[in-house]
Amino acid sequence: MAETDIFSLRSQLAEITGAEWVFADEENKLLYGHDETEDLIYRPDVVVKPGSAEEISRIMKMATAQKIPVTVRGAGTGLSGSALPVQGGILLSTERLNRILAIDEKNHQATAEPGVITEVFQNEVAGKGLFYPVDPASKGSCSLGGNLAQSSGGPRAVKYGTTRENVLNLEVVLPNGEIIWTGANVLKYSTGYNLTQLMIGSEGTLGIITKAVFRLRPLPTCDVLMLVPFRRIGQACEAVSAIFMAGISPSCLEFMERNAIDFSIEYTQSSLLVPRDIEAHLLIELDGFDAEQLNKEAETVFSVLEKFDIGEVLLGESERQKEELWMLRRKAHYAVKHHSIYKEEDTVVPRHALPDLIIKIKELEKKYGFTAVCYGHAGDGNLHVNILKSGLSDEVWNGVLRDGIAELFRAVVALGGTISGEHGIGLVQKSYLHIALSETHIDLMRGIKRSFDPHNILNPGKIFDL
Ligand code: LAC
Ligand code: ZN
Repeated sequence: MAETDIFSLRSQLAEITGAEWVFADEENKLLYGHDETEDLIYRPDVVVKPGSAEEISRIMKMATAQKIPVTVRGAGTGLSGSALPVQGGILLSTERLNRILAIDEKNHQATAEPGVITEVFQNEVAGKGLFYPVDPASKGSCSLGGNLAQSSGGPRAVKYGTTRENVLNLEVVLPNGEIIWTGANVLKYSTGYNLTQLMIGSEGTLGIITKAVFRLRPLPTCDVLMLVPFRRIGQACEAVSAIFMAGISPSCLEFMERNAIDFSIEYTQSSLLVPRDIEAHLLIELDGFDAEQLNKEAETVFSVLEKFDIGEVLLGESERQKEELWMLRRKAHYAVKHHSIYKEEDTVVPRHALPDLIIKIKELEKKYGFTAVCYGHAGDGNLHVNILKSGLSDEVWNGVLRDGIAELFRAVVALGGTISGEHGIGLVQKSYLHIALSETHIDLMRGIKRSFDPHNILNPGKIFDL
């Protein structure tokens, strides 16, 4: 935008939010110009931090009238570039909308604004004996709004679903500034198209979520956690569906290949010693309300694991030890990032196809000469394939690697899966979308986008091109 236009934009925004919430300095443009995606930076022209849905509504009316792009941002922990303001314009941060408005114990529901940090929300409802199960690895820094935008998952999705399975109703500011509720605060909804579910996972392209009503559950009172080392990576993958087939529904079933746990051990300064011959680990959690019952389930899990070539199982004995084991898994992404810039591929297949997926990844590593660090939510068949930049030339990184990723995604789709389970398409996966979805499918989505946002001002350039 031209300097004079930016000047006018700043004063219009200042009139709506107060000048103290409008920023156009270089430091803020840089800060809000990147998220956790690779090393990408797109500076916005102006950053604004509104304090209410009404202010957002006024901003959207102004932006629509003047056709100024608006990109919404939660806490900036996204991994597909959804919050990057690729066309400049306004970067709208929801960080000031950070109140938990109501915890309805009688109905097991809670209403919160999008800027609430996910873990803060979890702790607040836990204080009332209630459970919000969605727990992305970044739960201490990501926000509910970002989770809604991507339908974030995390380890517990395997038992309790991703964000989308835990939301009842949303307040949304539409691109034209109108404010609507998408549903009702009820557990069943058969009243026309489900706009709540349409908004979830729409990556900030259809509207701006300003309140969400979440479904809660009773807080489990006990859990069992075990770290299981496997001598063969393929067997670790095979064990995943074997556990379910034995009638067990773990609350978490996570996978880490050898290099992932090595990176995490170093990054978290853990004292865990992993024998040389171990190729992968499963981190398995069972939760519930009856310790005796859980022990029985744990025995069933052991009897399944015995059929595989495993090392010594480490049981989390104390809360502290459990936390240490969890850190190894939760910090994997930070550990990899600390090591090298990387491309994160968020593959997901039916869980029984995991062994085939891992074989394919190993084949592609050899063929294209890259190193991948794989970990993820094995119970969901959701494997994060982190392709390291270190060791690759810029030419390969920006060139032929694309063919490798496309080949990986084609294999994932052939196995009955898709190209993102929980990180979204955003900017960086956009060019691969046609591998997962037909042109007819993408066209239907274009039609939806146009009907919400006819001037294409809300988070333009994401998921697909119009
Ligand atoms: C994880 C994030 C990267 O599972 O989704 O660690
Ligand atoms: Zn994940």
